[in-house]
Amino acid sequence: MESSNTKEIKFSEESLEMVKGLIRRYPEGRQKSALIPVLHIAQAEFDGWLSPAVMDYVASLLDIQPIEVYEVATFYTMFNLTPVGNCVIEVCRTGPCWLNGSDDIIEHLEKKLNIKAGQTTADGMFTLKTVECLAACGNAPVMQVGVKYHEHLTTSKVDQLLDTFRAEGMISHTNPYT
Ligand code: FES
Repeated sequence: MESSNTKEIKFSEESLEMVKGLIRRYPEGRQKSALIPVLHIAQAEFDGWLSPAVMDYVASLLDIQPIEVYEVATFYTMFNLTPVGNCVIEVCRTGPCWLNGSDDIIEHLEKKLNIKAGQTTADGMFTLKTVECLAACGNAPVMQVGVKYHEHLTTSKVDQLLDTFRAEGMISHTNPYT
């Protein structure tokens, strides 16, 4: 698994233009308002996770203190603070999903991938996470992979999805703004 610690921390020109455009949406001195979308772009560009060096880089672009970036990045489960696999599977475990079998889905994924929630498969293909409500409770149980939701999950549907992700060489950390 490639780590963003091993390569230069610098956005591509395309991403940098996007970041500058986001910053320009806010008045001078309020560029911190662009932080969450900029972190999404950073996570997509730097292998799916935010290393301290990446967060420091984002802080410098927004002209804010690194701690202000850490505070936000550590609060939201959508930001990964350690290296992840190509395909990050986030299974909701909040009430409505739990009542509709999310525990069974998580257990099935753990067995199938031979990892526990929070871990990455040895081949670097999958990371399994559990998260709180994804705001699609009416279609529980639900999991998110990249920008896509997979709803009304069953174990056989999960198996089909895993096969598809493997066959496609799925990479879930794509820039949600492109
Ligand atoms: S409880 Fe799972 S989407 Fe809301």
